[in-house]
Amino acid sequence: MSFSKQKILLAVTGGIAAYKALELTRLLKKQGTDVRIIMTKSATAFVQPLSFQALSGHLVHCELLDTEAEHAMGHIELARWADVFVIAPATANTLAKCAHGLADDLLSTVYLATTCPVYVAPAMNHVMWNHPATQANLKILQNNGVNLIAPELGEQACGEVGFGRMAEPETICQRLISDLAMPKILKKLNVVITAGATREPLDPVRYLTNRSSGKMGYALVVAAQQVGANVTLISGMTYIQPPQNCHFIQVETAEQMHAVVFETIKNCDIFIGAAAVADYRPVQMRDEKIKKNADQITLILQKNPDILADVAALDSPPFTVGFAAETNDLAKYARDKLVRKKLNMIAANWVGREEGGFERDENALDVFWQDGQKTLAMTEKSELAKQLIALIAERFYTPH
Ligand code: PMT
Repeated sequence: MSFSKQKILLAVTGGIAAYKALELTRLLKKQGTDVRIIMTKSATAFVQPLSFQALSGHLVHCELLDTEAEHAMGHIELARWADVFVIAPATANTLAKCAHGLADDLLSTVYLATTCPVYVAPAMNHVMWNHPATQANLKILQNNGVNLIAPELGEQACGEVGFGRMAEPETICQRLISDLAMPKILKKLNVVITAGATREPLDPVRYLTNRSSGKMGYALVVAAQQVGANVTLISGMTYIQPPQNCHFIQVETAEQMHAVVFETIKNCDIFIGAAAVADYRPVQMRDEKIKKNADQITLILQKNPDILADVAALDSPPFTVGFAAETNDLAKYARDKLVRKKLNMIAANWVGREEGGFERDENALDVFWQDGQKTLAMTEKSELAKQLIALIAERFYTPH
């Protein structure tokens, strides 16, 4: 369905960010969507329902037990009418009620009664946002399939600085467009993606690792989800938030990643190895911290299993996509890995340069398969991931 045909139910709760929901309503209307508004009682203390009525072109729904409103479009009809339910801003109180199934007002009742995709854009003081109770409620909601549009860092209405400011209306609108308007080309397919760097411990305080931040792999998770895939993310240690609504498994070492991949690979349709897996690990992990007595020490390293090659060597392998990170002879090494590891595709990127590769927000890829290749130019990893997923889908559906 095109985005302009979407029926969007926007719920506004009681926070200072309620005024931003007016702009969100305007932006969504500008896209051609049909927008209906629910306001909680406290939201009406911040913004007049009349303002939303003028922008949306519909009466605003405020009461659960209002016979007139129920006659026009009651809570069950509203829940059934919506193609997507967006709560913006979502207060800590609303998140808690939805997480625990309380249904004591129109918003929370509609939340329980709807089966459409739900998005929450929280807004609150940063201490409230970081409170374990809020984070636990959010986890419950995400486990129940609710999509988070994360709050942003910045100065808050209380004058303090931190995470908790509602995402800008443009950001929310763009997120809805990119999630809802994309054709679901990988619908119901199981995709397993590895990302980030493995760590190979030397002793209780030290390890060998590499520069991978996980950004490329995590962007692929989001891009695959946007086109309908069920995604399992097996990640090394990173400092970034895992994408929402994927099956997330964190590992430390290459051997752990290998074991977890083989536990999850059974019903996998597409495997993408974006992780920077350590090729070698110390033969022995010392039980005690290595002391700096000698001027030189020797590390003896043992080769790690090759996860990607082992997946591709299965009797009935998934469509297997590898990455190649190279400092020289990119195409030569990538083609060699494609053939040697018996992959369906390989996405090669330069590393150690000023642009792209490890840690950067942008990247470029030269993608190779048995009888073809395509260059994906330097762009944001989020955008590049969409292009790579589209290419993978194209090759996946081409007899191979
Ligand atoms: O995480 P970022 O900071 O965003 O950076 C992105 C990236 C540069 C890490 C990513 O785009 C990338 O290139 N990932 C693969 C890095 C790598 O380990 O490349 P390689 O050429 O050494 O390995 C080739 C392939 O074999 C890779 O798919 C790798 O996951 C896989 N491999 C390697 C060794 C091993 N023991 N097991 C494997 O599965």
